[in-house]
Amino acid sequence: MYFIANWKMFGGLSTLNSLKKVIKFLKIFKKSKKIKIIYCPPSTLICPMSKKVINSKIQVGAQNCHESFTYGASTGSINPTMLKNVGAKYVILGHSENRDSGETDKLINAKIRAATQAGLKVIFCIGETLGQKRKKITKKILSKQINFGLQKIKKRKNIVIAYEPVWSIGTGLIPKADDLFNTINFIKKKVINIKVLYGGSVNPKNINELKLIKNIDGFLIGGASQDPKKFIDIIKKTYN
Ligand code: PGA
Repeated sequence: MYFIANWKMFGGLSTLNSLKKVIKFLKIFKKSKKIKIIYCPPSTLICPMSKKVINSKIQVGAQNCHESFTYGASTGSINPTMLKNVGAKYVILGHSENRDSGETDKLINAKIRAATQAGLKVIFCIGETLGQKRKKITKKILSKQINFGLQKIKKRKNIVIAYEPVWSIGTGLIPKADDLFNTINFIKKKVINIKVLYGGSVNPKNINELKLIKNIDGFLIGGASQDPKKFIDIIKKTYN
């Protein structure tokens, strides 16, 4: 199981102290060997965080990257090679917050290719909006995001998909268990041998319901991941 923390645009150097609790917990947690813990802080914290988590279970990831893996004249951008250089092993791509600010499937595809070429593993986010869900076109939307996003990418072993319905991100709402099971099943049938995580308002309360959904390979956790106690609680409860 994957437990991925997405800190979004939160956190400064002092926030890194909160990792101590999580590192300590992971040392004594019996199921530690079975899980992957990935923290995706803002880019400013990737380097210091990577230093803090040396010799621990925690791996570090970025939240986005440029679509070229080589250096170049692109003011304000960070390419995947640079992220890898400062300790990132993963990168989140296709997050709905970035799709919202204009990222197209084509651009996301270019980013996924650049990231894998640079040697990063990719957490590829897909998900439908509330309007699309109401129109009952969720599968059509997910198919489009997958078909374009993974176009011409043959080697997919370094990619995991995070299914994040846009209407569930930061709202406290989660899909009905049956719907979620079916959607994940649909994604797994479409992309053979891929791990599929769920993301959207995962918290210590609803994890008891979410963990019962058999085909979920892990969780992408936003808000609740900023509080080490909540993050630890989510991991513990998944195995209780
Ligand atoms: P949330 O965010 O857990 O705060 O809903 C999830 C995400 O955006 O990845």
